[in-house]
Amino acid sequence: MTQGFRPQHLAIAVTLAALVLATAALSQSGQISQVTNPGVQARMSTMNRANAALSTLNDMMGGRALFDRDRAGAARKDLMAATKSIPSVFRKPHADPLSNARPLIWSNWRDFKLKAKRAQRAAWNIDTDSLSDLRQSLPRMVLACLHCHDTYRDGTR
Ligand code: HEC
Repeated sequence: MTQGFRPQHLAIAVTLAALVLATAALSQSGQISQVTNPGVQARMSTMNRANAALSTLNDMMGGRALFDRDRAGAARKDLMAATKSIPSVFRKPHADPLSNARPLIWSNWRDFKLKAKRAQRAAWNIDTDSLSDLRQSLPRMVLACLHCHDTYRDGTR
């Protein structure tokens, strides 16, 4: 065993690696620039905004960017705003050939809204006081994104 090795360090490293992969999968885009339906564009841009904010935090968490409390706080606010607007941008079943939204959203609207609410709460619960607070609170945000995508978005995730 390497000096100073602790099993929990390995667990943290594995979790971080899994999160980085999950976040990469999350960010795959449905080519928003080629989408012609404005309603579909609006919901994709909400998602892309959430994704940009999440990437900022993820980079800090993974050590690819320096932890910056102000930037982290601003990203958290962006995530709160983006997740809050999910129900309103998805309410109408706008369609586009490039959309990855499953029709199940509108036959299961109540559950979809619940998943949006959970994501909103996870955004609110992101703790940006310090890097270690961020590391502890961000995974639940990522899981909330993935949890909705698993059910309501076509594609990898
Ligand atoms: C309540 C459900 C739900 C939650 C929560 C959710 N998403 Fe999405 N997301 C979707 C659906 C549905 C689509 C597909 C929209 C479409 O293609 O019309 C999507 C699409 C996306 C896209 C692709 C946008 C594009 O340009 O095609 C990204 C990136 C994305 N989400 C990131 C995130 C991130 C990051 C989070 C968490 C902060 C998140 N999503 C939370 C349902 C959700």
